[in-house]
Amino acid sequence: AQLDLDSILEFTINLALEAGEMIRAGQQKRFASESSNEDEKVNSVDLVTEVDKAVEAFITKKIKETYPDHQFIGEETFKGEKVTDEPTWIGKSHQPSKCLTNPIDGTTNFIHGFPCVATSIGLAVGGKPVVGVIYNPFLDQLYSAAKGKGAYLNRKTKLPITGKGKPLQSLGHALIAIEYGSSRSAPALPSKVKTFQTLAASPELGGKMCHSLRSMGSAALNIATVASGGLDMYWEVGCWAWDVCAGICILEEAGGVMFGSKGSSLSGEVDSDLLTGRKYLAMRGIAPTSDESTLQVQQR
Ligand code: IPD
Repeated sequence: AQLDLDSILEFTINLALEAGEMIRAGQQKRFASESSNEDEKVNSVDLVTEVDKAVEAFITKKIKETYPDHQFIGEETFKGEKVTDEPTWIGKSHQPSKCLTNPIDGTTNFIHGFPCVATSIGLAVGGKPVVGVIYNPFLDQLYSAAKGKGAYLNRKTKLPITGKGKPLQSLGHALIAIEYGSSRSAPALPSKVKTFQTLAASPELGGKMCHSLRSMGSAALNIATVASGGLDMYWEVGCWAWDVCAGICILEEAGGVMFGSKGSSLSGEVDSDLLTGRKYLAMRGIAPTSDESTLQVQQR
């Protein structure tokens, strides 16, 4: 049956706002308590709190009640717990629809009280994101989109924000987000650092320096900020489908492009199966083929 994207979007926005309230209250409670500890998942920097789990349980319950036929995959209940660089079955499933959610994206920020924290809820149909909502309850910023219906900040401001919709002309003028992620042993870390260096300034890119590098500590917020125009580009290796599903929908509706792990820039080709990869490059607009530096970064 045809999905009613307008009503799904409305449902998802309300769900994200309610989840956001839980996140805000959960943080206050944690900060007031002597004994609130986070758990470690794959390593000492891959963290989860009781609030992540409670928010995910809440989101799952609501989705199951409202859309009982939909599949649900959440970060904290994902069965293939091993975080490796291999693609997972998440985006490869042949199920007609999936809800991909990250209850708290930016868990490390949440633990530290750094305000870049979001709940990220996306619906993918046939492996393609069609609804995405990202809500930062600490800054009260709500990014939302449904396929073909545009992307918005706080429901009213159409993305990208005026004047930021043009394709990126050159890395030389770019503000670029990068993330260390939780994979920090060799060979992952040196390879990430090499790319950070290349993005910052590199003779390989004709001596171009970007304006600066940023790390928001939340994949969802990095992508949403590229969609809104505050960042020009975001590069990361190590994301999962739940980190990017909602963001891809918002970014694409704002006229941006997400390149996946197989994305070949020179042809302008975008990986058709964006939810199976672990390596992402989000850009506002499509880079003109004349800028060698931008193209080379896309290829990495
Ligand atoms: C992580 C954050 C982080 C990014 C990682 C994500 P989490 O999600 O988005 O910025 O570097 O790739 O897994 O663990 O906070 O849900």
